[in-house]
Amino acid sequence: MKNTIKAPRGTKDIWGDELKYFEMIKENAFGVAENYGYKRIVTPTFESSDLFKRGVGETTDVVNKEMFYFEDRKGRELALRPEGTAGTIRAAIEEGLIEESLPLKLCYFENCFRNERPQAGRFKEFFQFGAELIGSKSYLADVEIITLAHSIFKRLKVDNLKLKLNSIGCNECRLKYKEELIKYYKDKEDKLCRNCKDRLYQNPLRLLDCKEKECIELKEDAPKIIDYLCHDCKENFDMVKLTLDNLLIPYEVDEYIVRGLDYYKGTVFEFVSNELGAQSAVCGGGRYDGLIELLGGKSLSSLGFAIGVERLSLILKAQNKIKLKEDRVDLFLGRIGEGALNILNEIAYKLRESGLSVYLEITDRSVKAQMKYANKINSKYSVIIGDSEIEKGSVNIKNMDKNESYEVSLDNFCEDLLNLI
Ligand code: HAM
Repeated sequence: MKNTIKAPRGTKDIWGDELKYFEMIKENAFGVAENYGYKRIVTPTFESSDLFKRGVGETTDVVNKEMFYFEDRKGRELALRPEGTAGTIRAAIEEGLIEESLPLKLCYFENCFRNERPQAGRFKEFFQFGAELIGSKSYLADVEIITLAHSIFKRLKVDNLKLKLNSIGCNECRLKYKEELIKYYKDKEDKLCRNCKDRLYQNPLRLLDCKEKECIELKEDAPKIIDYLCHDCKENFDMVKLTLDNLLIPYEVDEYIVRGLDYYKGTVFEFVSNELGAQSAVCGGGRYDGLIELLGGKSLSSLGFAIGVERLSLILKAQNKIKLKEDRVDLFLGRIGEGALNILNEIAYKLRESGLSVYLEITDRSVKAQMKYANKINSKYSVIIGDSEIEKGSVNIKNMDKNESYEVSLDNFCEDLLNLI
């Protein structure tokens, strides 16, 4: 066994078809977001760990169990971002973007890090496409953000996604609801899984999305948030549903969607797929009124979502409805000997400047091996130039698809090829 070094568990190299899916998701998601008026933002991969502790919440699994921490040389505690919202909001405050005209619409495509146990669709480093809509408390903003995610999936021809919708209320209705939940679970505490025992008094809503068998059974008779919503929250949620109905965007109300991050309030949602196994959520989002204030900015209602890019790639691959771009090279420029090197370099340079993709032979191998390689890289045309072609002043261009050759003069080679392609 050779002494090779492997990528860390839970990370992966992205290349070939998977990279094509990534690029396709990125291009289409940014494209649709632009139609909705979103501007792109790039924020640092790591931030002060306080940002996530304060923003995402110290009692959440994401911060408490899954975040990658490290110290800089001065002993300041930093963390790799586990998600994109906190950093985007930090940037919007720090860069003064929230002082400009509102609503502010930002979107991003970025890697995130969570130290979770790897499994299908769950990685320690993964990518998210996210969108954040800052500065509107209207139900229309809820609808717009959900519609944006829906449109991205539609543009990518994704089938069989289910939109699950819930409202987890504002601080007031949630306070009452949390009390009721704790009351309900108190005398069942010994039947809860270990995690939920710890969460009961800190974050009782999380008991509702626990995947352990014993907790799933217990939650069936638990009080439902929908019955505890205040007048405004209920009205807002009803308007969201009504508008989605009018837009013919199908959804299912699921009172167990509570989301794993502390900043959520009001409308929350997930898009789930049965093609993903246990990690069924391909997109999650919702309102986070209060987060901007919590991070030192002014009081602004906001909301957003993020799509898991690896999970969406898995779905696109399984559904196989989108044709991936074929890898093609316009011209393979081969050679015999050293005599034609200057001419070949000139041709390659000129054609590449004109926008063609050109592979220039830069190893010393036989003509047969060169042609084999030209086939492998799926070149549209190929040509082999040596001393005799230079003497003759003409070369044979081969159309690799048709297996036909045309003789052209060396002087006009570039022009002729550009006309052919
Ligand atoms: P989240 O639900 O934690 O929300 O993550 C969003 C999506 O990222 C998930 O639905 C999933 O597809 C993907 N994802 C999460 N963890 C992993 C993992 N370990 N491996 C692979 N994919 C993963 C958020 O992150 C929020 N910031 C979304 C948001 C934006 N809410 C408002 N604005």
